[in-house]
Amino acid sequence: MRKIGIIGSGYVGLVTGACFAEIGHDVLCVDNDERKIKILEGGGIPFYEPGLEELVKKNREAGRLRFSARTKDAVDTCEVIFICVGTPPKEGGEADLSAIERVASEIAENMTEYRLIVEKSTVPVQTGRRIKRTIELRKKKNVEYDVASNPEFLREGSAIYDFMHPDRIVIGVESERAARILREIYEPIKAPIIETNIESAEIIKHASNSFLAMKISFINAVSIICERSGADVMKVAEGMGYDRRIGKEFLRAGIGFGGSCFPKDLSAFIKIAEKLGYEFNLLKEVEKINQEMRHLFVKKMEDLLWNLKEKKIAIFGLSFKPNTDDMRSAPSIDIINLLRKEGAYISAYDPRAMEKAKEIMPDIEYAKDPYEAATDADAIGIVTEWDEFGKLDYKRIRNLMRTPIILDGRNMLDPEEMRKLGFIYRGMGRG
Ligand code: UGA
Repeated sequence: MRKIGIIGSGYVGLVTGACFAEIGHDVLCVDNDERKIKILEGGGIPFYEPGLEELVKKNREAGRLRFSARTKDAVDTCEVIFICVGTPPKEGGEADLSAIERVASEIAENMTEYRLIVEKSTVPVQTGRRIKRTIELRKKKNVEYDVASNPEFLREGSAIYDFMHPDRIVIGVESERAARILREIYEPIKAPIIETNIESAEIIKHASNSFLAMKISFINAVSIICERSGADVMKVAEGMGYDRRIGKEFLRAGIGFGGSCFPKDLSAFIKIAEKLGYEFNLLKEVEKINQEMRHLFVKKMEDLLWNLKEKKIAIFGLSFKPNTDDMRSAPSIDIINLLRKEGAYISAYDPRAMEKAKEIMPDIEYAKDPYEAATDADAIGIVTEWDEFGKLDYKRIRNLMRTPIILDGRNMLDPEEMRKLGFIYRGMGRG
């Protein structure tokens, strides 16, 4: 059992903290947002993630998980400190590392004995070095410390499962002591451990996310060719996926990727490459294709409806993917803005993300269920593949609509079945 401090209780920090507590460690989660800490102390969680509220509650009650609004509390009492604060993109795409710097300074100023400082936030390569320099410059006492990198690979929506069953654990370290502590912390989790230097660990994270984003843009580009040639991208992806070197995952064509990670990490990786003197054009194209998919969806809607002006479009799904209420860089935002620019009128429904969506798009209509959204609609646009959209009574929906048109941006419905029910159905990259 180790005493672990987690600085930053967002998606990654809170999941990490709760899971470390679950495997037996003594965890203190810190966040400088007092409102968040109040919610956590009151037994709630500040965002939706399946299973997390129960896990937090269980470990709080067991006394293994505590909260504080002060970084100093973690530095005073925890031997290992994980930095999990946000690294949002700046105007030009570069990662904003000011929160990391602030935390590193606070840790340095309060250290009175050995501390292992681990960066878990996704950061550009060489951030570890900068953290070290900040600590060197700011530390008040001459104490020993280590810096390490331990990137996180969990996905929102399945974060707890991913944390407990990772494909690998990456630890970037510079000392035996740091390696030993991190291996011990992760001991209960069965996964291969990749030990590297700090720079390699940092790049593993950016390269992995960029590679996955590239897979999505690749299949999306292929989907355009499929559609124009009479092929079905779903079948093409299936046929490709059987090749073990390619793999079946991340070949779902559609309106492209969103979320708080891929778009931000791609642009940060492009920027850091540029700083190191390399023009990463391949990744620039990945970004471009991703943006084009949103426009293509709107163009297809326009083809189906002839004109978008004054048409009512029911949008099914707003979050950037199912099982989360996260609206960060959600394709729905671009799509809705483009549709509205053409004069369409939007009625949207999402099982979880409507509260957050209202903050970003206050002046569209939000329906209480998919049926209300579809009432008198000229078309439905499926933007997020929530399970429940596969189980709706589409016969009823067809009768509620003004014209029975479905544009399925995630290829989640069966085209034949929809056509049998009397819909004009279009997917992405298939007839
Ligand atoms: C992603 C990575 O998958 C995690 O490994 C990583 O830890 C995380 O970013 C992070 O850096 O923190 P996440 O953003 O939660 O996780 O979501 P994913 O499930 O990877 O989906 C990302 C986007 O890609 C979604 O918008 C999804 O709809 C889209 N996607 C995914 C596709 O369009 N097609 C696919 O085949 C797969």
